[in-house]
Amino acid sequence: MRSLKTQVGIVGAGPAGLLLGQLLHLNGIDSVIVENRSRDYVIDRVRAGVLEQGTVDLLNAMGVGAGLQRAGLRHEGLYVSFGGCRHRIDLAELTGGKAITVYGQNEVVRDLIDARTMTTRPLYFEAERVSVGALHSSSPVIRFQHGGTDHEVHCDVIAGCDGFHGICRPSIPAGILTVYERSYPFGWLGILAEAAPSSDELVYTYHERGFALFSMRSPRITRLYLQVPPDEPIENWPDDAIWDEMLVRMTTRDGWRPTVGRIIQKGVTPMRSFVAAPMRYGRLFLAGDSAHIVPPTGAKGLNLAASDVLVLARALKAFYERGRTEWLDEYSDVCVRRVWKAQRFSWWMTSTLHRFADENGFNHHRQLADLDYLTSSRAAMTSLAEQYVGLPMEVSFESAGLC
Ligand code: FAD
Ligand code: DHB
Repeated sequence: MRSLKTQVGIVGAGPAGLLLGQLLHLNGIDSVIVENRSRDYVIDRVRAGVLEQGTVDLLNAMGVGAGLQRAGLRHEGLYVSFGGCRHRIDLAELTGGKAITVYGQNEVVRDLIDARTMTTRPLYFEAERVSVGALHSSSPVIRFQHGGTDHEVHCDVIAGCDGFHGICRPSIPAGILTVYERSYPFGWLGILAEAAPSSDELVYTYHERGFALFSMRSPRITRLYLQVPPDEPIENWPDDAIWDEMLVRMTTRDGWRPTVGRIIQKGVTPMRSFVAAPMRYGRLFLAGDSAHIVPPTGAKGLNLAASDVLVLARALKAFYERGRTEWLDEYSDVCVRRVWKAQRFSWWMTSTLHRFADENGFNHHRQLADLDYLTSSRAAMTSLAEQYVGLPMEVSFESAGLC
């Protein structure tokens, strides 16, 4: 048995866990990160692509923005397409110069793992049988096996950054958390294709046959999504069928369409809205997808993980530097306010842009009117723009030790 001691034990090396570890490091606070997957698996997992302005600013302020500045694609607008026409929403003009940046989550994770490695603080990959305990004591513990040896990490605080399917949230005794949940009667089939993006900006399409989304990863790689039935086996979708459906849904009357290329990755993601609150039990603090899930239409999940850990880093800094616990006590309330605003936005984007199997003509025309209003009213476009580029972070960078 190997026994270790640290200040903050972090379960999960996704965006939430790695960002928190780096924020703590910048404040001289020690941490141990425990991840059950391999380094390659974590880096290769294809997921988010859209970073809010505040997330970009945070990564830059943390000194981990070099890759982002080199390869990130700054987008000052996006398109909403319906009835065969694309309508541009000028994000920068409507928000006083803010934008989003397209930079793959796997690149963010790679950059953060590199930064973590430079700090020489511990990061265990391929940890087995991870569990947490003594959560209501002053010394909670993370237990796991690594390389055949049992490990025990004694901490002051544990951060549960282990995603929706992790072990931290289920370790909280029954009756403590209230769970709010909604599932949607569809999923997203996502592909990466070797094809030069045929638009400089994202295109969100509402089509009679269902939602489709045009995005990208680089000047040579296109990222596309299709609304499909929930739990759709990917085997039902040979590459030709995917392209046929993409082109039917996305081609506009002016002839715009995605460029077709070799599909290099494909998968199906379920859609869910989920909030578990409070995001704290004793000395365990949940952050990111372990506490909340949004459907991906609003591109908010990774960005919420970033804002959670900024709030947590501020609280832990005050705890270690001044013995203050008020900000730890407020942590859940501060995060949950922002989480619900992101939930509302993501639900609205999802319910406006997708077809619902049981819907009637009323709903279809209501959606078209919603999109018509959105793309013709400056007030409606401004509302979308300020939420899409990201509402202000709840706490300042300075309060979390960044300048
Ligand atoms: P995760 O990324 O899930 O990380 C959790 C980590 O914990 C993982 O590495 C996991 O292996 C590890 N773990 C799990 N169990 C254990 C255990 N028992 N022990 C130790 N480690 C464990 N968000 C956006 O902001 N913008 C977008 O454009 C966007 N697009 C998306 C598109 C798709 C198709 C999907 C699926 C998601 C998208 N998201 C987007 C959401 C975003 O990917 C997630 O919100 C984000 O990954 C959350 O980060 P996290 O660190 O909280 O959780
Ligand atoms: C991407 C993912 C999203 O969920 C979204 O809303 C926009 C873009 C992407 O992977 O590029």
